[in-house]
Amino acid sequence: MEKFFDCNNVAYPEFTKGSVVSCKATKGAFPENSVYTLVLAVSGEKKPQPGQFYMLHPLKSDTLLGRPISVFHFEQKKGFVEITFLILVKGIGTKELSALQKDDEISILGPLGNVFRKPENGKALIIGCGIGIAHVAGFAESLKDKTYDFYASFRSGKYGLEYIKPDKLVITTDDGSEGIKGMLPTALSVETLKDNNYSAVYVCGPAPLLEYVKQISEEAGIVCYLSMESRMACGVGVCLGCTIDTTEGNKRCCKDGPVFDSRIIKFPQFKDSFSSKTVTQKKPLDEEPDLSITIKGVRFENPLIGSSGTFGFGTEYSPVFDVNRLGGIASKGLTIEPRQGNSGIRLWETPSGLMNSIGLQNPGIPHFIENELPKMLKLKPVTIANLSGSTLESYIEGAKLLDKTEVPIIELNISCPNVAAGGASFGMTCELADQAVSTIRALTKKPLIVKLTPQSPDLINVALQCIKSGADAISLCNSFQGVAIDIERGVPVFDKIKAGFGGPAVRPIAMRLIYELCTEINKLQESKRVPIVAIGGVEKWEDVVEFIMCGATAVAVGTNTFANPFTMIECIDGLSAFMKRKGYKNLSEIRGLALEGSLLK
Ligand SMILES: Cc1cc2nc3c(=O)[nH]c(=O)nc-3n(C[C@H](O)[C@H](O)[C@H](O)COP(=O)(O)OP(=O)(O)OC[C@H]3O[C@@H](n4cnc5c(N)ncnc54)[C@H](O)[C@@H]3O)c2cc1C
Ligand SMILES: Cc1cc2nc3c(=O)[nH]c(=O)nc-3n(C[C@H](O)[C@H](O)[C@H](O)COP(=O)(O)O)c2cc1C
Ligand code: FES
Repeated sequence: MEKFFDCNNVAYPEFTKGSVVSCKATKGAFPENSVYTLVLAVSGEKKPQPGQFYMLHPLKSDTLLGRPISVFHFEQKKGFVEITFLILVKGIGTKELSALQKDDEISILGPLGNVFRKPENGKALIIGCGIGIAHVAGFAESLKDKTYDFYASFRSGKYGLEYIKPDKLVITTDDGSEGIKGMLPTALSVETLKDNNYSAVYVCGPAPLLEYVKQISEEAGIVCYLSMESRMACGVGVCLGCTIDTTEGNKRCCKDGPVFDSRIIKFPQFKDSFSSKTVTQKKPLDEEPDLSITIKGVRFENPLIGSSGTFGFGTEYSPVFDVNRLGGIASKGLTIEPRQGNSGIRLWETPSGLMNSIGLQNPGIPHFIENELPKMLKLKPVTIANLSGSTLESYIEGAKLLDKTEVPIIELNISCPNVAAGGASFGMTCELADQAVSTIRALTKKPLIVKLTPQSPDLINVALQCIKSGADAISLCNSFQGVAIDIERGVPVFDKIKAGFGGPAVRPIAMRLIYELCTEINKLQESKRVPIVAIGGVEKWEDVVEFIMCGATAVAVGTNTFANPFTMIECIDGLSAFMKRKGYKNLSEIRGLALEGSLLK
């Protein structure tokens, strides 16, 4: 017979599906609609133990991973187990869970984690704070009625107490809306513990509360069990991402916990504190922040740029939204001769990404100058002509033509991943980059942005060389390179085998490159530093803030405009609202904030 339970009668976890019986806002929780009660039907006989948790992941989800959620209550029904969860809406994962509808299917992994050890004799004390109630209420329900006291602590209101039957129930609320006004220490001290002669203390809640209860329990000489929280990926003890700092070394919250004897837990736990560096809090602004930037004297209304090849010639998206709100628009990559681009499949979608093999299809620079440029120049955003080529001669010819036009900025693209000759190869080494940049520099006084490939093994030195050779700014990254295979035919998807790869999937790598580049630029004399245009996977305004905090002056959006044409508008609005809320008057106040040492000017 298949073994379902371990020697403690704890069910082994199973990766299966549950179906939603109901999902409703939890009554009594404040603010309204902040906590939801989700009831799932899970087929089979495997009951969770009180205090265990499941990784819950809606089948349709924008998150990669499930979220750990404690069993609040369960009932064995005929042929299935009905499990109730309380969910505090915090970020994207819990928002998705709270939005589930009756009969929706959801992936579940569980039951997971250890369980509270039941008191052997005497009265227990159970404490839950906020959403921590979910974890301890399930345990309380499993004890005999009135064999425990229960302290519940909330900011406001109360919820999650319907199944417990304590001897004494004490509620505290910060605002006095229920029970005693104040936080838990107002109602619970060492003396309370000693006077009641509790046999054990069980607690779940935020870290400061756990630390407080640990301290008073240990002072009173009472064994105390803490239910800890940590970020989780696997839930079964393999990824080692959820470790808790203990006197016995690292312990996995998911497998060794989440319940731990308080005596081994060290506080503070630094897992979620990111770093000790904090920024000075400023007063929110009454006025609109200044989002403008300049690149070699050319003023952009804001730092958002439509990235080359993903925004056509500026007017294609005009019927969809007001493109005049953008800071800049980079034209499709332009070569001296018209190009038809690559044969075969040109687009291949990947998880959160897009591979492309367009191959610089474009009408040629003379056609651009006569037909597209005049229209682009009529738009408010700064026009950037993306100059591409296959040989140095072709770049030279193109640069000479563009130099004679009104175009305010040239972006020298020495990074196209999709052309056989030239293209990215000029961006691969310092020598070739120097050759291309110094040659074009000598031909034009127009501001020159040099667009680099992330594929160079010597990228940072190539960028520094470009600056030495006369670049007024660097844009990074052009597309990464990827390969996709058609498994039915057993051949590469793209005729040119390798293809460009962009979209949200590449963002952390692009962020790392921008961070590294800006760190190096920071070391240059102030007069030698140049602005950086960050590109790679921008999807939301938060990504723009991240890039600017890494030192970028402007941020260009590529692939995500295809998924959501409003991406750049949402980024501008979100950036502005963020700066207003945080009291940042202009972008120089956040530029380079995340870099070590002196800040970029
Ligand atoms: C064992 C255990 C039991 C839990 N039980 C419940 C419960 O019953 N009800 C409930 O509402 N919440 C519970 N949580 C917390 C819940 O898992 C997080 O609030 C949730 O993962 C946040 O995800 P998000 O996408 O909404 O938020 P985001 O902030 O967008 O999350 C981003 C990432 O951080 C992680 N994360 C953020 N906050 C936490 C946190 N406090 N704990 C763990 N990971 C976090 C997420 O898993 C995710 O990977 C429990 C956590 C653990 C570890
Ligand atoms: C369909 C497509 C065509 C592109 N064409 C060009 C181009 O002509 N010139 C160029 O410099 N970059 C081109 N790129 C690269 C983008 O401008 C951008 O640098 C890259 O996609 C990374 O940004 P993202 O992750 O936001 O897409 C193209 C990208 C895509 C998806
Ligand atoms: S979540 Fe993977 S080890 Fe705990």
